[in-house]
Amino acid sequence: MTVEVLNVIAGARLSAASGAVIERRNPADRRDLVSVAPASGEADVDRAVAAAAEAFRTWRLVPAPRRGLMLAEAGRILASRKEEVARLMTREMGKPLPEARGDVQEAIDTTLLTAAEGRRLNGDTAPCELPNKFGMSIRQPVGVCAMITPWNFPVAIPSWKILPALVCGNTVVLKPSELTPACAEAFVSALVEAGVPPGVVNLVCGAVGAALTRHPGVRAVSFTGSTEVGKLVGETCGRLNRKCSLEMGGKNAQIVMHDADLDLALEGALWGAFGTTGQRCTATSRLILHREIADEFVARLRDRAAALRLGDGLAPDTQVGPLVDQGQRDRVHDYVRIGREEGAVLALGGDFARGPGLDEGWFYRPTIFTGVRRGHRIAREEIFGPVTACIVVDSFEEAVDVHNDVDFGLSSSIYTKDVDRAFRAIRDLEAGITYVNGPTIGAEVQLPFGGVKGTGNGHREAGSQVYEFYTEWKSVYVDYSGRLQRAQIDV
Ligand code: SIN
Repeated sequence: MTVEVLNVIAGARLSAASGAVIERRNPADRRDLVSVAPASGEADVDRAVAAAAEAFRTWRLVPAPRRGLMLAEAGRILASRKEEVARLMTREMGKPLPEARGDVQEAIDTTLLTAAEGRRLNGDTAPCELPNKFGMSIRQPVGVCAMITPWNFPVAIPSWKILPALVCGNTVVLKPSELTPACAEAFVSALVEAGVPPGVVNLVCGAVGAALTRHPGVRAVSFTGSTEVGKLVGETCGRLNRKCSLEMGGKNAQIVMHDADLDLALEGALWGAFGTTGQRCTATSRLILHREIADEFVARLRDRAAALRLGDGLAPDTQVGPLVDQGQRDRVHDYVRIGREEGAVLALGGDFARGPGLDEGWFYRPTIFTGVRRGHRIAREEIFGPVTACIVVDSFEEAVDVHNDVDFGLSSSIYTKDVDRAFRAIRDLEAGITYVNGPTIGAEVQLPFGGVKGTGNGHREAGSQVYEFYTEWKSVYVDYSGRLQRAQIDV
């Protein structure tokens, strides 16, 4: 069944003003037309931002605990539709059904966490230097927030952005990836049905990220996606003096030391490198292996990765789904060519996956490179596919050095039984996230998500840190002395 997606503006379900549409086909089987969505333009963005600005006038005055209750209700609605939304997600972007269920679950978890924040949103009080004077700081909403979200977590990532924004009293215009409009609509529908008033959350589908980012009515932009686009968003927001949160990917590594539990490290590498077909910002795209275990580890990883079952994510035995589209498959294949030309050795994969059930989709074989050196492009650039590059090192110090020798710093992992070494890794790995004896993927919403260096611009999503982005601080002084008191002078 094809889903007819519509924009949501001021509570109304609308086609694009131009009437143009974008078709989205199942990446596991391109004969399956999953959704038809509006190909919106500037006129649609204008309407959505105007609706959000109008709604902000009243939404900001709704008590935060009451806003939180609506988010909790949206969580209940999503939970009741978890299976339906997960199936739609698998068809729309390809990840296997258990992973799609996890994506929806992450949004449900975020509703629970955020709903409670409606009763917190704490500020501070501070003693004042003058008598009969009271000082405090309070959080205030920012205004209309533009959310530009990717296809790899098409429900979870919008939830990371939209729910905290709403509980703080902001209003939202969501521009989802053109590859996953139906998932975005499913998420927005849950909010609307939960009682979030018209105009508070608006959905505009299509290639309107630039128009939204530069729109004069927008006060903050939160972007997750490619480095290339993220830098443009950052430049525009910098020029316009607009709040901006960027999450632009990684070149994450799992370090395996000579004393590691190799069975555990192997499971971690398989899941981290090939889960979601490597299409996670946190995917394990480098394996930094201590020389003493490297050959054995690679041999075992190759055997296990070769046995992974590729296929339609709705099939119960599928472990690895397709890449999201032809462009992504071509990009991955191009990196494989680059890796070979650089002199790395293909230990596994390196080609399209063909065969029964695969020929109508964008499948790529799990790919392992050995003989990779830190200067190789496949060791430095984000690939976003089922490709991992093995780099051999002789010591912990060298492992940390190789780990840090990239432009990104999102997620990192070390497998070791030595507690001192684990703590040194926590201290020294340049990344926003470090796992000890766990893979580089699998963030939980109660902890901050984001990275250092080229990964982002210093903001964090999730956890309690996200509220720094979606609120402005106001300092309040109440002088109840009945006379003029001059700070720094009358003390
Ligand atoms: C992501 O990488 O985008 C999702 C978070 C995770 O799996 O850690």
